[in-house]
Amino acid sequence: MPKRIVLAYSGGLDTSVLVRWMTEEMGAEVVALAVDLGQGGDWDAVRARAVAAGAAEVEVVDARNEFASDFVAPAIRANALYEGKYPLISSLSRPVIVRHLVDAARRHGADAIAHGCTGKGNDQVRFEVSTRALAPDLDVVAPVRTWGFTREDSIDYARKWGIPVSATKANPYSVDQNLWGRTVECGILEDPWARPPADVYELTVPRNAGGQPKELIVTFEGGSPVALDGQPMPLDELVPALDAVVGPFGWGRIDMIENRRVGIKSREIYECPGALALLLAHADLESMTLERDVAHEKSRLEPRWAELVYDGLWFSPLKMALDAFFAETQRFVTGDVRLRCEPGTAPDGTGSCFVAGRRSAVALYEHDLATYTAADRFRHQDAEGFVRIFGLGIETWATKQGPGSQGPGKQGTGKQGTGQPGTGEAGPGQDRAGQGMAGRPAVTPPSPAPAPPGSPGLGEPAG
Ligand code: ARG
Repeated sequence: MPKRIVLAYSGGLDTSVLVRWMTEEMGAEVVALAVDLGQGGDWDAVRARAVAAGAAEVEVVDARNEFASDFVAPAIRANALYEGKYPLISSLSRPVIVRHLVDAARRHGADAIAHGCTGKGNDQVRFEVSTRALAPDLDVVAPVRTWGFTREDSIDYARKWGIPVSATKANPYSVDQNLWGRTVECGILEDPWARPPADVYELTVPRNAGGQPKELIVTFEGGSPVALDGQPMPLDELVPALDAVVGPFGWGRIDMIENRRVGIKSREIYECPGALALLLAHADLESMTLERDVAHEKSRLEPRWAELVYDGLWFSPLKMALDAFFAETQRFVTGDVRLRCEPGTAPDGTGSCFVAGRRSAVALYEHDLATYTAADRFRHQDAEGFVRIFGLGIETWATKQGPGSQGPGKQGTGKQGTGQPGTGEAGPGQDRAGQGMAGRPAVTPPSPAPAPPGSPGLGEPAG
C-alpha cells in the first residue's frame, strides 16, 4: 500500500471524503493538491476543508496562466471540438493537473497519486494515462471506483468526520468548471428528451434580451488571441472577459449526446461562450490567412487532435506531432476578427454571436483578385486554358466511357480524334476550342475574346 499519496483535491464532497478515507483505510499520509484553473471559488475554504478532512499537507497551485498558454492555446490553434461540438473543457484540464500532481509527488516523496473519478467517466482515463506518461513509477489510487459509496453515504461519512461540505442531498448536478467553460451532467439531464431546466446555466443566462447588439474585436498573433478591443490581455484573462460579454446574450450553450471513451453515450450540457467565440474567430481568421492546401489538410487533422485529447492522450507522440504541424500553420494567423453579439428575440432570450468581419496584414485574400469592379487584375484570358486542361481528363472519360458515350455494347463510330497523335495539340485547321474527340462537340464551347476588366458579360459574378 502506498504510504504517501498526492490527491487531486477539488474541495468537493468526494475528494474531501477521500482524504479521510485514504488516511483511515489505507493508513496513508495524504497531500491534498488543489489546482486553480479559473473555476472560481474560495481557496481559503478549500484549504480549510482539506485540513478538516485530515490532510497531512495542503497545496493550492495557481495554474491559470499555464493552463491557458500550454493547453487552451494549442486547442485554439487546433480548432478543437470533440465530435464537432465539445471544446474539451475537462479534457484539457486533467493533463495540467497531472503535471502538478507529479511535481508535488516528487517534492513530497510520494509513491502514488490519487483521483476522485468514477469508473464510468473519461477523467479517470486522462488522469491515469497522463500519469503513466509522465511518471510510470508512480501508483495511481482511485478508491471512488470501487468503494461503493452513494452520494448519501459520502455526505453521511463527511458529517461523521466533521468535514464541512456544502453539498446537500438535493443538488442534482455534477459540474466541472475551469476558465475554458463549464460542464453539467446528471439529474434530469440523464433524460436525453428532457429540455435542460434553466437552473443548469450560469455563464449563459440571457440578460440582454431587448437590449443593444455589441461588437468586439479579437486580435490574434500567430494563432493565439492576444487582445480584446485593442487591449492586450493574457489568455487566462481574455477568456473570462469574453465570457462576460458574450454569455449575457444567452449564447454559448451546447447540448449533446457524447461518446465517452469507456463506451457509454452520455448527455452533456456545456456552457462556454468565450471558448466558442474564440474558436469561431480563430477559424475565421485562418480562412483569411491559410493557404488552401494547408487549410484543407489541417481541417482533416483537427478532429483527430480533439479525439486524442479527449481520450486522455495529451502526452502522446501523435498528439505532439500534430501540435508541431499546427504550430507551423499558425505563423501568419495574425489579425483582427470582429465579433457581433445580438440579443435574442425568442422568449427565452437566446441571442447570437457571429463573425461580422475580419482583417489581416498578411491575409491571402487579395481584393484586386477577388473584386468584380474595375480594380480587377485577375488575368481572365488565362482562365480558358486552365479550365480546358483541368477538364481534359473528364472530357476524355466522357467521350469514351461517360453516360453519353459510345461505350462497349453500344453502337460506336470507331473514329478517333482528329488531333495530332501523341502531342495533345490541335490538328491543322482545328481550333483548340473547336471539335473535341471523336467528332463530338467539345465540352467547353469556344469562348469570346476576353472582355476588358470590370465590363459586364464576364459571366456569373460569383466564385
Ligand atoms: N464529458 C466531458 C468530458 O469527458 C465532461 C466531463 C466532466 N467531468 C466531471 N468530472 N464532471 O470531458
